[in-house]
Amino acid sequence: MIRKYVFGDPIETEAVIAQIPAEPGVFTEDHVRLTAGTEGMHAFSYGLADKDRIYGLGENIRGINKRGWRYISNCTDDPNHTETKNSLYGAHNFLIVDGADGRFALFIDAGQQVVFDCGYTDRQKLTITVSEGGFALYILESDSLLGLVHEFRSIIGRSYIPPKWAFGYGQSRWGYKCADDIRRVVRGHREKGVPLDSVYMDIDYMERFKDFTVNEERFPDFPAFVEEMKAEHIHLVPIIDAGVKIEEGYPVYEEGVKNGYFCKNADGSDFVGGVWPGRVHFPDVLNPKARRWFGHWYQVLLDAGIEGFWNDMNEPALFYSEAHLQEAAKMLKDTKMDNVDIWKFFTLKDILLNIANRPEDYKLFYHNVCGKMVPHDRVHNLYGYNMTRAAGEAFEELSPEKRILLFSRSSYVGMHRSGGIWMGDNQSWWSHLLLNLQMLPSLNMCGFLYTGADLGGFGADGTEDLLLRWLELGIFTPLMRNHSALGTREQEFYQFGADDSFRRIIGLRYALLPYLYSEFMKAALGGEMMFVPLAFVWPEDAMAAQTEDQLMVGESIMIAPVYRQNADGRYVYLPEEMKLYRMRSADDMDAEILPAGQHYVKAALDEVLVFVRANHLVPMAASAEYVDAVDTSHLRLLHFVKEEAAYELYDDDGISRSVTLEGHLTEIRAKAEGDGDLKICVSGALAPRCGLI
Ligand code: GLC
Repeated sequence: MIRKYVFGDPIETEAVIAQIPAEPGVFTEDHVRLTAGTEGMHAFSYGLADKDRIYGLGENIRGINKRGWRYISNCTDDPNHTETKNSLYGAHNFLIVDGADGRFALFIDAGQQVVFDCGYTDRQKLTITVSEGGFALYILESDSLLGLVHEFRSIIGRSYIPPKWAFGYGQSRWGYKCADDIRRVVRGHREKGVPLDSVYMDIDYMERFKDFTVNEERFPDFPAFVEEMKAEHIHLVPIIDAGVKIEEGYPVYEEGVKNGYFCKNADGSDFVGGVWPGRVHFPDVLNPKARRWFGHWYQVLLDAGIEGFWNDMNEPALFYSEAHLQEAAKMLKDTKMDNVDIWKFFTLKDILLNIANRPEDYKLFYHNVCGKMVPHDRVHNLYGYNMTRAAGEAFEELSPEKRILLFSRSSYVGMHRSGGIWMGDNQSWWSHLLLNLQMLPSLNMCGFLYTGADLGGFGADGTEDLLLRWLELGIFTPLMRNHSALGTREQEFYQFGADDSFRRIIGLRYALLPYLYSEFMKAALGGEMMFVPLAFVWPEDAMAAQTEDQLMVGESIMIAPVYRQNADGRYVYLPEEMKLYRMRSADDMDAEILPAGQHYVKAALDEVLVFVRANHLVPMAASAEYVDAVDTSHLRLLHFVKEEAAYELYDDDGISRSVTLEGHLTEIRAKAEGDGDLKICVSGALAPRCGLI
C-alpha cells in the first residue's frame, strides 16, 4: 500500500520510477498518525511510544535503530565520522517506523536538505523538516519490516549489478603513483598467494589531476599496461573526480565551456571552485545534455581497456569557492597582526578552518534544470547521483553487452540503479568496523547493495589485529577493498600476518563466492536486502531487536564479527538454535551446534564465526587466487540439516548485462536420514557436484 503526496513544485529527481498518482486534496495521514507539524506543510511529526524503533536513512552514523539522534540529509565531504556528526556523503531519505501501533515507512523525495529528528529534540517525537522547495512524500504500509523494504524497492527500480570479478578482493591506496608501484603491489599479493582481482588507481595516475587523462611519464603505454595487468587477472580501477580542471588546451574544459555544460554563477559565468586539480568547474550533471557529454568522456579509459571506475569528490566537495577564498584572503590581509588578542585569533582561525565545503558557497552556483536556473542548494543532494548516472547511462551505450564496475562516494536514492557506493573516508578505528556493519542493512533498505567500507580504515594508522578483524567482516561485503590515505601506515595485507592469516581469510571469501554472489543477485533481482538486521527476521523477539552487532547475510547465515581490540571472542545472541562454523580458512574449521540464547563465543584473531540456520545450506567452492579461477564444478556445503533443506544457487557468466533469475537458479536439496547416526543426502541437478563439509 503506497500513497504519494506532492508539496509545492518539486524538481523531478527520478528516484522513484513507478508511476504513482499523487493523492488529491490536503495531506492527511491519520492512518499512521503522521501529522503536518507546526512549521506548516514542510514539517511532519509522529509521536513515539517508548519502545518504538526507527530504521533506514541509508549511509549514516550511529546504530541500526536510528532513534535518539538528528540526521540531516546533506551530502557532505567529511572524513571524521564521529557520532557527533549529522550527515555523511549520501542522502537516503527512506525511514521505517516500527511502532507499538503498527509499522509504516516513508520516503521524502527532495534534492534539498531534510532534517530527521528521531527523538533528539523530544525523545517521544519524530519530526521531519524539509528545507524550502517542493518535494514528494511517499507513505508505505505493510505488515512486516521486510515487506516495507520490498515495497520501497519495488518503486525505485533494480539495484546496480557489477561484474562478478568486482566481488573479488581489491587493493587500493592513495599514493600508488606509477605502473611500477602497481606492479609491486600485484607481485606482493601473488608471491604470497594472497588472492587479488583489482588494483585501484587514485588521483596520481592522472596528468595534474585532470579527469580522463593518464600521466604518460608514470604510465608510458597505458593500454599495454592495462593488458599486462589483465594477463595477471588484475583489473585496474581508476578514480574520476567531479571537478574539471580549468586549463587552456584541455579538451574536457574547453568543450564544457563552449557548450555551457558547467555550473554557473548568478551572472551566467562559470562557477569556479577549488579541488585536487586547483581551480575547477563542475559539470552540470543535472542537465541531461551535460550529463550525456560528461558520461561519454569515460570512453577514453574504456578504450584503453578499463572496465571499472570509482567516482569521487561528488558531493561536490569544495575545498574553496574562488569568491570566498578571495574574501577570506582580504580579511586576513586587513587584519593587523601586531595585537592579536584571543578573540581576534579565534576569528582568524575560524576564517581559515571554514573555507572548505561552506554551506554559503553551495548557494552561489546554479544548475540548468529544464531550462530554469536552479540554485545548487535546492538540488545539492542530487549531484553525486547524477554524476554517477552520467557514467552509468553512458556505459549502457558504450558497453551494451558487458557490465562495468561503478561506484560513487556521494549518492541519493535512484543512484542505486547506476552504481554502488563505498562508505567514504572512514578511519582505522575499531568503532568504524562496527559502523561498517551497522550501515550495511540501512543501505540495503535504500537499494544500495554493492557497497563496502575502506577495509582497515582510510585515515589514521591501522594495526595488524584491526586489519584482520575488519577483513573478517569485509569478506562478506560485496565491495571488498582495502584503501588507505596518503601519509598513513601502509596496510597492504601481504605486509602483515607472518602466520598466513590474511591469505587464509581472503581465501575464505573466494570459497564463499557461490553463496555470496547468489545472495547478492537474488537480493538485487528480487528487490530484497542481503544484510538483514535480526529484528527484521525475528520481529517478535525483543533480544533480536536489541542486537545491533550481528547480521543475517542472505538466507542461510548470521555473522557476528569481533570488533573490539584484544578480545578473544564475543557475546553472540542466537534467536534460535544454529550451527556455528568457526573458520580459519576454506579448509580449516570446526563446527558445533549451539542452542538459542546468549553465548560467549571464542574467536581467535584468525577465526571467522559463521552461524548457519537450521535447515539451511551454504554452497562453497575451493579457495582461489582470483574470481575467474573459482571452480564451481565442485561445491562443498556448509549445512545444518535437521530435517531437510533446499538452497537455490544462482550463477551466470558474471559479465553480461542481461540478468534474470530465470534460467540461472539451480536447487540443491539435502535431507537428514536416520536419527542416531545422521546421514545427509544431497539431491537435485547439482548433487553430483556437491560434497559436505
Ligand atoms: C578522497 C576520497 C579518497 C581518496 C582521496 C584522494 O578523500 O574519498 O578515497 O583516496 O580523496 O583522491
